[in-house]
Amino acid sequence: MKRILLVVGMLAIGLGAVSAQQDVVAQRQKLMKDNGKNLGGVLGGMVKGEKPYDQAAVDAALTQLDQSARTLTTLFPDSTKGLKTGGDYDSSPKIWENRSDFDAHFASYSKAIGEAKTSVKDLATLKAAVPVLGKQCSGCHETYRLKNT
Ligand code: HEC
Repeated sequence: MKRILLVVGMLAIGLGAVSAQQDVVAQRQKLMKDNGKNLGGVLGGMVKGEKPYDQAAVDAALTQLDQSARTLTTLFPDSTKGLKTGGDYDSSPKIWENRSDFDAHFASYSKAIGEAKTSVKDLATLKAAVPVLGKQCSGCHETYRLKNT
């Protein structure tokens, strides 16, 4: 009886670990979606003239991008390799094969956000910064994000 309980207990712990890893995947997916909203919706919207330039909204979006970049670097642990997001995109196994290159992409991305935080003061400087940030996103996605078909 004791042995059965032990096995059941261990199974429960194992399942708990899997769902904790699945939570990590859900967290990073949410942050990536927020990135999309901040860069494409808030900043991109101003660049396209859909919204008036608003320094407070720019600062808030850049601050969120900056914070999410810091959190995201911790949300790709080895234990999540191969886990599916259930969404349109998954992570490529290359992340865990070329970890230092993947981390370098994050470092370069964070640096670009830091630069935008100091350079963006008006619509002209925003227009210059948005494509630079967009290239950082796509530069990583090209290699490390897989589109589910
Ligand atoms: C260093 C790499 C890297 C950078 C930089 C990066 N991403 Fe991602 N992104 C990924 C990976 C990997 C995935 C796959 C998601 C997963 O497995 O959780 C992803 C997924 C996404 C998704 C899909 C989320 C979903 O599943 O619905 C969006 C949207 C996204 N990223 C937006 C952005 C935007 C916008 C930026 C820049 C502001 C950005 N990302 C920067 C690596 C990166």
